[in-house]
Amino acid sequence: MRIFMTGGTGFVGTTLTRELTAKGHSVTVLMRKSESGKSLPPGAVSLEGDPTVRGAWQERVPEHEAFINLAGASIFTRWTDEAKRAIRESRILTTRHLVEAMALRKGNETHLFSTSGAGYYGFHGDEDLSEESPPGTDFLAMLSREWEAEAVKAKEHGVRVVLCRFGIVMGRNGGMLGEVAPIFRMFLGADLGSGNQWLSWIHELDLARIFLFLLETRSLEGPLNCTAPEPVRNREFTETLGKVLGVPTFLPPVPGFMLRLMKGEFGNVIVKGQRVLPRGLLAAGFQFRYPTLKEALAEILKK
Ligand SMILES: NC(=O)c1ccc[n+]([C@@H]2O[C@H](COP(=O)([O-])OP(=O)(O)OC[C@H]3O[C@@H](n4cnc5c(N)ncnc54)[C@H](OP(=O)(O)O)[C@@H]3O)[C@@H](O)[C@H]2O)c1
Repeated sequence: MRIFMTGGTGFVGTTLTRELTAKGHSVTVLMRKSESGKSLPPGAVSLEGDPTVRGAWQERVPEHEAFINLAGASIFTRWTDEAKRAIRESRILTTRHLVEAMALRKGNETHLFSTSGAGYYGFHGDEDLSEESPPGTDFLAMLSREWEAEAVKAKEHGVRVVLCRFGIVMGRNGGMLGEVAPIFRMFLGADLGSGNQWLSWIHELDLARIFLFLLETRSLEGPLNCTAPEPVRNREFTETLGKVLGVPTFLPPVPGFMLRLMKGEFGNVIVKGQRVLPRGLLAAGFQFRYPTLKEALAEILKK
């Protein structure tokens, strides 16, 4: 299939592009700077354009049948007002402009896989959350809601829309693991806050397999939790990562107030969490290759 991807140069998009092209799909990767030195695998081509701004890039959109919308400024930062504006606008405007351009495909079968996150549900205790659970009210939850609402507008043009609510993506070259593995390797790994908070996560290769599954399983639409079936508490994450890396994790927990001091409102995302389950994917018959964190980390961190 001819696939158009926003945010394809990032951590998730790089793996996804590699896996999709390996299965024979062609991928056009929209990037703000095509001379950024990012090499693409055979089967993928770059297209220069800023998705937050309407432009010539939109003319190329109708040539494609499937759209994977990943672009957005990183949330892994201190949430100043300016950072929150960039986090929001980069997602909302990108999705709006992509959907506008998709309308030009008129009548042709079209698929939109738009990203959202487990943060859609807001902060929760031990409660199981499925696609039917209501949204939260914090910044990330409100953002996810607004982001999804922009994507859903594509339905007005006859597009099939899947809202992929990613858990924290575990992978080799970035994301959360890219941040914390070096800290653990220095023997500085510790629980964050109480350690009780749930972490809903997914192995990057399972995420790529989910997209391949979605391309084939055309009956699936609407919100879909893209998370492993076994979420873990932060305490279990610390213990498992320590064991897989073969390093001790004896330090006392990092106090929640300190994380909030360092990261602002983003600190809440670290010390609170949610237990999200992939009900929709399991009901559709998707089989996870890495259902447990131990298996996932062992695969990712193997030499
Ligand atoms: N990684 C996770 O654990 C995780 C979990 C839940 C949800 N998600 C969501 O999944 C998506 C992909 O995540 P990722 O980890 O691959 O992100 P990433 O590595 O930060 O990449 C995001 C991509 O978005 C583009 N981008 C960055 N800032 C932008 C801006 N201001 N305006 C427009 N485009 C911008 C960049 O592409 P160019 O520079 O080439 O234009 C970049 O390659 C994100 O939207 C993220 O919120 C990720």
